[in-house]
Amino acid sequence: MILLIDFGSQTTHLILRRIRELGSEVVITLPEYAMQKVKEVKPKGIILSGGPAAVFEEGSPTVDKKIFELGIPILGICYGEQLMCHLLGGEVKLGLKKEFGPATVSLKSNGQVSKFLVGIPDGFIGWMSHGDLVAKTPPGFVTYGTTQTIPHAIVADEKRKIYGIQFHPEVIHTEFGTELLENFLRICELIPKRSGIDKEFVENIIADIKDSLGNEKAICALSGGVDSSVAALLVYKAIGKNLTSFYIDSGLMRDNETEVLQKVFSKHYQMDIQIINAKKAFLNALKGIVDPEEKRKVIGKIFIDVFERQAKKIGAKFLVQGTIYPDVIESKGTKHAQVIKSHHNVGGLPSKMNLALTEPLRNFYKDEVRKIGKVLGLPDQIINRQPFPGPGLAIRIIGNITEEKLDVLRKADKIVQEEMKEVKGKLWQVFAVFTGIKTTGVRGDNRAYGETIAIRAIEAQDAMSANFARLPYDLLDKISIRIVNEVPAVNRVVYDITNKPPATMEWE
Ligand code: XMP
Repeated sequence: MILLIDFGSQTTHLILRRIRELGSEVVITLPEYAMQKVKEVKPKGIILSGGPAAVFEEGSPTVDKKIFELGIPILGICYGEQLMCHLLGGEVKLGLKKEFGPATVSLKSNGQVSKFLVGIPDGFIGWMSHGDLVAKTPPGFVTYGTTQTIPHAIVADEKRKIYGIQFHPEVIHTEFGTELLENFLRICELIPKRSGIDKEFVENIIADIKDSLGNEKAICALSGGVDSSVAALLVYKAIGKNLTSFYIDSGLMRDNETEVLQKVFSKHYQMDIQIINAKKAFLNALKGIVDPEEKRKVIGKIFIDVFERQAKKIGAKFLVQGTIYPDVIESKGTKHAQVIKSHHNVGGLPSKMNLALTEPLRNFYKDEVRKIGKVLGLPDQIINRQPFPGPGLAIRIIGNITEEKLDVLRKADKIVQEEMKEVKGKLWQVFAVFTGIKTTGVRGDNRAYGETIAIRAIEAQDAMSANFARLPYDLLDKISIRIVNEVPAVNRVVYDITNKPPATMEWE
């Protein structure tokens, strides 16, 4: 077992997942309970996660220094590396600039081979998300890796089996991240074994749902996306007809969406799916609201109101939601982690709600959810659907929402979807954003003052990190020409070239 000490990184749970995928158990604890937990679970290794604080600030989370004297191998990641160096006599400084995204890690050949770096080549990409850096290593430590901006990107005290890295091996964009974690497990005398999601794994989830719901009735917020589809099907397999699924048409959906969903679901499910038209309620409630967090809360509240009403009719006690792990961590934070966005299905829920929540996918990431869906036999059409946020187009229109803006965005997005048909399968998401910025243009011989549409195309493995897709210029050109020609309100199209972090995938 590995003890994972959580300093509040957005990716702490991703570390847990990677270690779990490598066949070892993980217990997460807060730094203040670390020593107590070590005594309790007797871990073979300890990982110190990243976190948003600065080690030299007063009140920043820390651990009892004695943890480094126990003889248990320790790996510090990002803040974890900085904290270990700070506590053991090194020096941590504010970096010249904050660094987010990819950096090339050069390995230092200093006459020693680190067990941590077996099989890792020189010049791999490490994913960074930090402001501070280790400026001086503690006594006994050797530097094994650097980047252009970081003098001590990989450090180790091989004798004490203490390792530190500034980048995030748990993030899929870090090359050889899994191999680095495998090496650490070997140092901990654990045998890494890459495991998968199979039939037995899925049956266990269904059995757990059956246990917790018993004979109660549940309703499901089905959006047609992969998360809610998989969640609904899991619950359906567990409780059968005691589940009723609703699809709420909020008026914030993409072109033709409700019709397509209706078709797909009535064909592939034998489940009872009811479609509720609530367009008016949503648009009225959103009138004049500009703040993204407020939009999410308002939308979340209406969703829940509608569901509560339906639940009452049916006598349901539970509401099934397709919440997945990144929604949880970004919406709720943890003790030391910050809230990034309130996804409507998590942080945006009203605090007083008369339905108990069932969220069978709460501990999983999108790619794992897809694997579960595959095991359940869901068609590729659903499994490979790109994610679409619960608040819908409302968070892709910057500023207040109107029917006119929705109409413009829907038309532009339809063109993006059509033109990207060929490449979509390889991308996490492609979509259009109504930026709310009006600019000057020229149409015919006349001055035009029109809207700006942004295109977002993202490559990612899970929702925690991403990079913008290097789309061919010809494709972007075609999309741009079609949008400005076919959607008269628009006279400018821009392409978003920002990675996550620091940007999020959605603009709001
Ligand atoms: P961000 O923008 O947070 O998006 O980088 C990560 C993934 O989550 C989706 N997303 C949401 N999904 N409710 C949802 O159900 C939300 O409020 C929400 N906000 C973002 C987003 O589309 C992306 O795939």
